Amino acid sequence: MNRLSIISLTTILFQGCQEVNLDSLGEFDIGPLPQEVPAPQENPINEAKIELGRLLFFDPILSANNKVSCASCHSPSKGFSDGLDRSDGFSKGIKTPRNAPTILNAAFNGINLLGEMDPSNSPMFYDNRANSLEEQCMGPLLSSKEMKGPEWTEEEYIPFLEQKVAAIREYRQLFYGAFEDSTVSILKITQAIATYERTLITPNSPFDQFVKGDQHAMTDQQIRGLEAFISAGCNRCHSGPMFSDYKLHILGVDEHPDLANFDKGDGNYAFRTTTLRNLSYTAPYMHNGQLKTLEDVLRFYERKRSEHKDVSSSDLAGKFKDLKMSPFNLSRKDEIIAFLKALDDPNFDQTVPDSVPSGLPLR
Ligand code: HEC
Ligand code: HEC
Repeated sequence: MNRLSIISLTTILFQGCQEVNLDSLGEFDIGPLPQEVPAPQENPINEAKIELGRLLFFDPILSANNKVSCASCHSPSKGFSDGLDRSDGFSKGIKTPRNAPTILNAAFNGINLLGEMDPSNSPMFYDNRANSLEEQCMGPLLSSKEMKGPEWTEEEYIPFLEQKVAAIREYRQLFYGAFEDSTVSILKITQAIATYERTLITPNSPFDQFVKGDQHAMTDQQIRGLEAFISAGCNRCHSGPMFSDYKLHILGVDEHPDLANFDKGDGNYAFRTTTLRNLSYTAPYMHNGQLKTLEDVLRFYERKRSEHKDVSSSDLAGKFKDLKMSPFNLSRKDEIIAFLKALDDPNFDQTVPDSVPSGLPLR
């Protein structure tokens, strides 16, 4: 039996008589990532800007106490996340309220199945509150829990930060190379970092290769898992090339027990559909890292009920309550997990600079 008939057969078994073939996976709203990321008109990509952004990303000089860099919470060796439920913040005892999502493919946030997206209107954060990588970058730089720390006001910190970076000769040269102007500004800092982030993409997972025609890129178990994923209705939210509709949904994930105040997401306990790419590197899961493994996530979807004491079952997203999860036996769960691993792609830039222009130790 060839691979196409495996997909068709499992689909017939689980979905009625609908034929699925490689060409029509798009009917289910899922497909491959493009090989390239668009940049906003006002921030074109060039090699010098990528290199400047990379150095800034790893340089703790961007934090008020010279101890926190972007890479502290988004580490290449941990899939540009940190493996924690909540990140360690500005100093000892300070933690972020939420889990650090991966930065891999964040440059594609908001992309649809046709590969269309607007890099100036690209939703960021678990509540979509920022609209581009450039705008997002201001968040951690000016956060009292992350890089600015509690001592400075934003108005004071911005010129302080610009002067700190401009005082380093190598940075002035690098800014000149990237922008043809050696003046350091917070806007240019965010533009350079965003440009580096646009290189952190993984468009060649086994799934991408499979949908582009390599029938052997996924195992039989993964193909059955893809079918189970669709027939359960996971793709009704986890759709498009990123496996996210970039919409906010109420799932009723339990609160993190250590938070003083409930995290209400967008205000109504809705959080953005996460990407499902590279999950093997980014545990623990959900906005607060409350689910430790993919098995835990699938058990959560099987229970299909609110686990949050302030979220009632009538508040839950319809597409969540409508999931066809039962009767789901153990092997179906294993198949879905195997399929999710077909969305992993370890071929991303995992290099860490030997040193950064500030000379500070890497953190
Ligand atoms: C102290 C830990 C920490 C530091 C430092 C940090 N981040 Fe984050 N990052 C997080 C957390 C936590 C979130 C999720 C916050 C939320 O959704 O409200 C996040 C979210 C993001 C996102 C959004 C991804 C998406 O898909 O929505 C991007 C991009 C990002 N960070 C880039 C950066 C950059 C660039 C820097 C350095 C300027 C940085 N981060 C510094 C913890 C950190
Ligand atoms: C109603 C829309 C919806 C449906 C249907 C749905 N999800 Fe989700 N999924 C979400 C949202 C929203 C989140 C983030 C929730 C949070 O952070 O609290 C999420 C998170 C996840 C995560 C965690 C990823 C991470 O990095 O933390 C996994 C894995 C996942 N979903 C898999 C699935 C699978 C498998 C199915 C089908 C059984 C499914 N989802 C069905 C909306 C949905």
